Amino acid sequence: MPINQAPFPATRFRRTRADAARRSMVRETGLCTSDLIWPLFVMEGEGDRHAVPSMPGVERMSIDLVVKAATQAHSLGIPAICLFPYVDPALKTELCEEAWNPDNLSNRATKAIKDAVPEIVVMTDVALDPYNSNGHDGIVRGGEIMNDESVAALVKMALAQAGAGADILGPSDMMDGRIGAMRAALEAEGFQNTAIMSYAAKYASAFYGPFRDAVGASGALKGDKKTYQMDPANKNEALRLVERDLSEGADMVMVKPGMPYLDICRLVKDRFHAPTFAYQVSGEYAMLMAAAQNGWLDGEAVMLESLLAFKRAGCDGVLTYFAPRVAKILAG
Ligand code: PBG
Repeated sequence: MPINQAPFPATRFRRTRADAARRSMVRETGLCTSDLIWPLFVMEGEGDRHAVPSMPGVERMSIDLVVKAATQAHSLGIPAICLFPYVDPALKTELCEEAWNPDNLSNRATKAIKDAVPEIVVMTDVALDPYNSNGHDGIVRGGEIMNDESVAALVKMALAQAGAGADILGPSDMMDGRIGAMRAALEAEGFQNTAIMSYAAKYASAFYGPFRDAVGASGALKGDKKTYQMDPANKNEALRLVERDLSEGADMVMVKPGMPYLDICRLVKDRFHAPTFAYQVSGEYAMLMAAAQNGWLDGEAVMLESLLAFKRAGCDGVLTYFAPRVAKILAG
């Protein structure tokens, strides 16, 4: 970098920090409500809600209440919600057939939301884990997670979600070749405007623990997800995955988890200039909430600081369980 500033005392950085107005003038990034995507957990029932103990403030809700939450999100200016179903264990099978049932819980919730609040973007999760008796994101045979067979199942699932009215599909499964297969099927079936936000760089992370409680997958999962999710040690591989998914037709890409992987967000944005998102996952939320509840951190301040960090790292938006709380603060 060329030296373009005078030495002290001609240059004093504290001048532009001296008051709120000047700080606001030189602020390089900002967090807005339109940056937020709110993940919601949906369950069967009516007028029912169930707290997720490892995610204080987060609840699973029946469809009618999820519709209310989506309506609230829309009135707060949040552009998108992302649905995750808590599936009845009796519907979980080894071949995950419930995943592409057009009337499954997730698809009914999508339809109900789009009927009530057509303006809000509904994003769905494309992965088999909520429907799989062994908790994996792909079909398991003899202990092996089958790639190509899983992709075929995921394509059926994607088409059912698009048919239900999902605006953005979020393949979070990490099978190889799924983006291209889904895009081709969506085009062939007339879903030209159904977008794909690929969980392109998704790491095998211990930060997903509370989420697996929320969707009831913790008990079901046999083993770990390391043969399909990424090794947290890798960076070049993340770039190759993002490039691969973009070349197969992903409209947007995601890095997940968020806070421990901000370096990856920055690299992805600088390299590809594509719409880039991060998922501030359940464990990150739990961590901040736990410290705040103990009085060890100022909860509101760390929430806003952590989300601003995603913008500084180059992200266009972030999936966060804090979405409605942040939106209310930003609305004043
Ligand atoms: C599953 C899925 C996971 C999350 C989103 N989709 C968990 C996993 O891969 O085991 C995690 C989200 C979070 O932790 O908030 N396909």
